[in-house]
Amino acid sequence: MKETRMAARRLRSVLCLDDFEAAARQHLPRPLFGYIAGAAETNASLRWNAQSFGRYAFLPRVMVDVSSRSQAVTLFGETYASPIGIAPMGLSALTSYRGDIVLAQAAEEARVPMIMSGSSLIPLEEVAQVSKGAWFQAYLPGQVEQVRALIDRVALAGFTTLVITVDTPAQANRENNVRTGFSTPLRPSLRLAWDGLSRPSWLLGTFARTLLRHGMPHFENNYATRGAPILSANVVRDFSDRGHFTWEHLKLIRSLWQGPLVIKGVLRSEDAATACRIGVDGIIVSNHGGRQLDGSVAPLLVLQQIVEAAGTTPVMIDSGVRSGSDVLKALALGARMAFVGRPFAHAAAVAGKAGVAHGIALLKEEVSRNMAMLGICGINEMTMDRLVALDRQAVPIEDIATDERAA
Ligand code: GLV
Repeated sequence: MKETRMAARRLRSVLCLDDFEAAARQHLPRPLFGYIAGAAETNASLRWNAQSFGRYAFLPRVMVDVSSRSQAVTLFGETYASPIGIAPMGLSALTSYRGDIVLAQAAEEARVPMIMSGSSLIPLEEVAQVSKGAWFQAYLPGQVEQVRALIDRVALAGFTTLVITVDTPAQANRENNVRTGFSTPLRPSLRLAWDGLSRPSWLLGTFARTLLRHGMPHFENNYATRGAPILSANVVRDFSDRGHFTWEHLKLIRSLWQGPLVIKGVLRSEDAATACRIGVDGIIVSNHGGRQLDGSVAPLLVLQQIVEAAGTTPVMIDSGVRSGSDVLKALALGARMAFVGRPFAHAAAVAGKAGVAHGIALLKEEVSRNMAMLGICGINEMTMDRLVALDRQAVPIEDIATDERAA
């Protein structure tokens, strides 16, 4: 009860998804907040992702009867309440208590998809048990036998949709993690102890509570077997080499996985076309929220050409989606679903399931309200003619990107 009241109080001032970040900064130890909020090297792609949505403006149609609107969407035989989903995020059970379960349950209750990250700290079987609809995202282990074993495990747990992330042939250079003292495993130090002690509500409500009830969290789902603990002075995490992966591995996975198979991290049309020839069921255009190759293009800017190359294969997007307007712009450019990451990690951290539910509700309301003002009743009406691409020369990117809410 006390928890519910606290969550309600924290959520009162969260009026849009971006508001979760400031609340999470107050709540999370610095290394954990930095891990979520930061990206790779200079954070250029992180910024570009956000700015890319400013490249397009709406062309609303007026005097249309929009009194009954639906944002429902059907994908892989499932009908979802809205074209929004929760992107996979590692370490969710460290940034919020039972994080993966919280995200999965909130998504299930709102009837939107949630993708469980392979870099997670709760056995995937536990999440599959509480959420029939969650998708599972895998980082492939280096050896083919390990790949087979992991895929068998995911199928046995009951997941039907498998997402394979393909933009991690090398570990990203996350300078911010080094600066804030974040690593996996976390290394005990006076500084880390201070970081934890200075955030008592996280320390007691998330970390100590997890230790007492579930023991030390481990990486549970990178392989078919348990990996390293999240806190250790000397254990070295197995970052298996993924540099040798090619389309041949995707063909193998296609032959092993019976359900919908989605490839995540595609930014080029010819890669999309190759994935479709191999028989994937969906593509997520993504630069990993700017967390892998810094300087990689914002997915929104290549979305249209990838949709064209993918033909009838559904294309989805993540990276930089922060509002209903962003979702609608992505739909107009051909996306079937827009996934949101960081704001939901922040939401779960500050207010658990209520926070995630609040975030989903905000997005859904923004989509619905903007559909009305655009003059559309169904999301399939959100086509390219509802947008105008702003002239890059006429509108400097700094002007487009100005965030009025921050002013
Ligand atoms: C995990 O996917 C990460 O980007 O940290």
